[in-house]
Formats: sequence, structure tokens, C-alpha cells
Amino acid sequence: MSKDFRLRRGTPADSRAAFELSIAAVGDLMTRQNHPMKIDAESFWKVLESYLSHLAVHAAEWWLAEDPSDRSLVGHARSLERGGLFELSEFFVRPGFQASGLGKQLIDRVFPKGRGEVRVIIATNDVRALARYYAAGTVARFPMATLSAAPKPAPSCELEVVAANPSDVAVFAELERAVVGYPRDADYPWLFREREALLYRRHGRAVGSAFFSKTGLGPVTSLEPADQRAILLDLENRAHAAGLEEMSLSVPMVNDVAVAHLFGRGFKIDGPLQFFMSNRAFGHFDRFLAFAPAIVL
Ligand SMILES: CC(C)(COP(=O)(O)OP(=O)(O)OC[C@H]1O[C@@H](n2cnc3c(N)ncnc32)[C@H](O)[C@@H]1OP(=O)(O)O)[C@@H](O)C(=O)NCCC(=O)NCCS
Repeated sequence: MSKDFRLRRGTPADSRAAFELSIAAVGDLMTRQNHPMKIDAESFWKVLESYLSHLAVHAAEWWLAEDPSDRSLVGHARSLERGGLFELSEFFVRPGFQASGLGKQLIDRVFPKGRGEVRVIIATNDVRALARYYAAGTVARFPMATLSAAPKPAPSCELEVVAANPSDVAVFAELERAVVGYPRDADYPWLFREREALLYRRHGRAVGSAFFSKTGLGPVTSLEPADQRAILLDLENRAHAAGLEEMSLSVPMVNDVAVAHLFGRGFKIDGPLQFFMSNRAFGHFDRFLAFAPAIVL
């Protein structure tokens, strides 16, 4: 197989092929780790298509590598920027082309050293990926787990729950600024369009937020860690009422309140752990759940 690559920028028309490449790389990783992948690519594409189309337009950098012999994709890497937060969102090389330096060429383009106040990666446990991420100046801070369960009816929420609309975006941004440090301004229009936006209030004051949909949950913020129990019960109730067979959350494992609560509700760790990596410590991840499916913070 040819080991020469042609690098070019990605365009929205590349979304499907880049997705297929990601699935091939993750499937191969799982097989190498004796953890056969249970994802059906066609149904997962339906879940992710809208979000990947959004990333295609809002990426900070997006580069692809092609095999010049047949122009098939052999590499795909993308980053996004939320103010000073710079995140590597995707990084994949086709099995058979890995471990020969293509990953380095891609990551040097999409996640250049020195860019971003905080540099973040939600990393797989692939040794090749981890080597590249340390070289890019990030350090593993804590594991992330996807926790999944069949939702059960739950006691009603002790917080006031308000169905929010885009005019409330500043409240969501303020909560995320308090918890993570960086609001995701470019993503709120997508989140408000594709997910139910929920604000949780006590005595009229917003103390938490969440985004809910049948195909994905999060991000979830809470000013106080303890309020996550009420928020998670509300989300589980919604998932049960919506008839979901399974709900999944992307949970920082330093979030002891959420992990203990979800284990108590029968949630199980689903698939391999990931690592939260960053160039420096920041944010309050004991009161935060990431965007799910677990692609970005
Ligand atoms: C992660 C990935 C994109 C990297 O691309 P790649 O072309 O394989 O990467 P490179 O060849 O540029 O670099 C691999 C590095 O891993 C190092 N490496 C390989 N095995 C290693 C091990 N067991 N321990 C430590 N480092 C190791 C190599 O030495 C090389 O580093 P070097 O260039 O400093 O010597 C690719 O391997 C991949 O698609 N993996 C599966 C999907 C995945 O997990 N993606 C990450 C999503 S967050």
C-alpha cells in the first residue's frame, strides 16, 4: 500500500468519508484491544450527521490526507476553538497507514503548539494517540467514562425546570463560563436547534443547565456539585418518558457526585475509558458532564 500522502483542507462535502474513516480507525483500535465495537456505522451516522456537518463549518482547522493513487481518505484531523479554549475534536489515520508519521503531519496542522490558552483533548486510550498528545503539550488529567443505562422513572426534580429558548443563551454561557471557564458560543445555535435546552433554577436563580435529545445529551453544568443529582434525575425521567431504550452520558470521573449517583441508578461503564487531556489544569469538572456522544468537551 502506498505510504505517500497528499494533505488538503476538509470541506463539508468530506463529512461522510471522514466519518467512515473514523469508524474504521476506532473499529481497528477496539479489535486490537479485544473489545469488539458494537456501533452500527449507518445508524451512528444518522445520530452524528447533523453535528459533524456543524463541525465541518465551525472547525478551527480541518485537514485530510489522501492516498494519491485513488484519492481515498487515509487521514482526518480537526480542531475547534471557543475563545481561548482550543480543542482537538477528531484525529484518525486509516489502519494500515498508522504509525508511519502521518498522524504527526496532521496534528501539527490542526493542533499547532502554542495555540490556545487551554489546549484540550478527549483522548482514546490508543498508545499512538497518547504519544502524539503528550508531544502536543497535553497531559492526562483524569479518565472520562461513558455511563449508560435503560432509563427508569425517577422522583420529580427538586429544582424548578424551565424549557429555555435561544433568548436565554447568555444564561447558558454564564453557567458554562463559571464551570468550565469557556462558553461554547458557536455551538449554542446548534444545541438550541437540535436538543431541548433546560435551565434549573432555585429561588428564581439559574443553578444548572442541560441539553437533552433522543440522540444525545449534554453538556450539563451545575454551579454546585450536589445539584447534579436533581438534574440527572430530571434527564433520566425525560429519557424514560421519551421511550429511550438506553441513555448515555459522558462523565468526567473526577465528578464523584455524578458517578456515584449514576452507579446508584444502575448505570454501567460502556466501552473503554477515555482520558481528559489538557496543557494545564482548569475548570470545575466535578460539576460538569460533557457533550455526548463523547467527541468533544
Ligand atoms: C492516533 C492516530 C491518529 C495517530 O496517527 P499515526 O499516523 O499512527 O501517528 P504517528 O505515526 O505520527 O505517531 C505515532 C507515535 O506513537 C508512538 N508509539 C507507538 N506505539 C507506542 C507505544 N506503545 N508507546 C508509546 N508511544 C508509541 C510512535 O513512536 C510515534 O511517535 P514518534 O513519531 O514520536 O516516534 C492513529 O494511530 C489512529 O487513527 N489511531 C486509532 C484512532 C484513535 O484512537 N484516534 C484518537 C482519537 S482521540
